[in-house]
Amino acid sequence: MNLGAPTPFPARHELGLGKLHNRYPSIADLEARARRRLPRFAWDYLSGAAGDETGLAHNRSAYDAVRFTPQYLCERRAVDTRTTLFGRSFAYPFGIAPVGQSGLVWPRSAEYLAAAAKRADIPYCLSMVATTGIERIGEIAGANAWFQLYPLRDPGVTRSVLERAKAAGFSALVVTVDTPAGRRTLRDRRNGLTLPPRLSLANIARMFGHPAWLASSARAGIPRFETLLPYLPKGADATGVIALTQTLIARGIDAKGLEAIRALWDKPMIVKGPLGLDDARTCQEIGIDGLVLSNHGARQSESLVNPLHVLERIRDAVGESLCVGIDSGARSGLDIARALALGAQFVLLGRAFMFAVAALGAPGARHATELLALELEQAMGQIGCFELAHLPARLAPDSAAVTRLDLQRESESIEARHRTS
Ligand SMILES: Cc1cc2nc3c(=O)[nH]c(=O)nc-3n(C[C@H](O)[C@H](O)[C@H](O)COP(=O)(O)O)c2cc1C
Repeated sequence: MNLGAPTPFPARHELGLGKLHNRYPSIADLEARARRRLPRFAWDYLSGAAGDETGLAHNRSAYDAVRFTPQYLCERRAVDTRTTLFGRSFAYPFGIAPVGQSGLVWPRSAEYLAAAAKRADIPYCLSMVATTGIERIGEIAGANAWFQLYPLRDPGVTRSVLERAKAAGFSALVVTVDTPAGRRTLRDRRNGLTLPPRLSLANIARMFGHPAWLASSARAGIPRFETLLPYLPKGADATGVIALTQTLIARGIDAKGLEAIRALWDKPMIVKGPLGLDDARTCQEIGIDGLVLSNHGARQSESLVNPLHVLERIRDAVGESLCVGIDSGARSGLDIARALALGAQFVLLGRAFMFAVAALGAPGARHATELLALELEQAMGQIGCFELAHLPARLAPDSAAVTRLDLQRESESIEARHRTS
């Protein structure tokens, strides 16, 4: 399979002038095509959110509120997007967020995205519950690969999975802590979502209505949780999500549990999901290297605050001791610039990359990396900002004020709680 790894990034003809850039000039264009190409259960799984789904609009409006004041009368230079994260240099300050059941959305999507990340020299984070296993992604992405772990019930399984991630060359571990109570994604419930999709008459009809998806799925075979397969009890349904949650995955984790994982992993360890000061401080005390502030793309609850609103206060509290990234809602290079201006050191994107693969397969993965890189460079050039570190200075005064107001209110209530406890 050609994953496109040898092409240099960005290729000259791809500097915003190629065919794909005209046909799909934004992630929204890729999203529209993805919607047409996916059977409804796959589209709903990818694009849906928790409860009444108002979290999606909240995530969008958090980004839209961030605006810049440009500086035009200055010396023009090339925009420098290189950054160092966890002791390693990357070409851009964004990466690919972990996405579980990836093969249900589009077969081989994890492989396509890992190859695109390697080529663009950005991080690719493999979900523990993706349908491509650790070893395969290690071969494709090497040290560009980060491994995402959900807390597991059995320490022996945790140890074994982490040893495999180390042997496969993954350079960082991302422990996701924001799923203590399961999910209520109503569209998935209504669709009776399972992995692989249940062969009900309605689902069969939906698959046949989407021949490109059906043909790719038939070629790739039945999607399975490849990383976790060896640990499922004999006789368990090796493809079922319920089998995983009932036998392997724990409901949440506490500080002691995180400490135990820290002791098993000697490379950079990142905690994904914190949004509050208390959790950020706990991570700092345990010796975690980084955070991904996240509301899981509004997939766990519609009530969770967007990370942009808590970023500044958490950065102030943990200082330089933790590298702080964010996700949830970014859909463009401009959004990446917005998050960086508010203090994020890197941004992960989940749905944006999956829309691209569902729209165009492997070329979609490459296209999305190029598009986001170009948009980021253009957004920075427009405001007269040539280095990532200078983005905060271009923030329009009101943008900072909007987020600070929220922060102050939350901070006062947390401090009041500390005084009374
Ligand atoms: C279909 C889907 C599956 C996901 N699976 C996982 C997962 O297995 N592990 C995890 O930590 N986060 C998972 N996430 C959350 C993403 O890593 C990320 O936090 C989220 O997508 C960011 O929001 P965005 O989609 O608006 O970029 C998933 C997100 C989506 C859309």
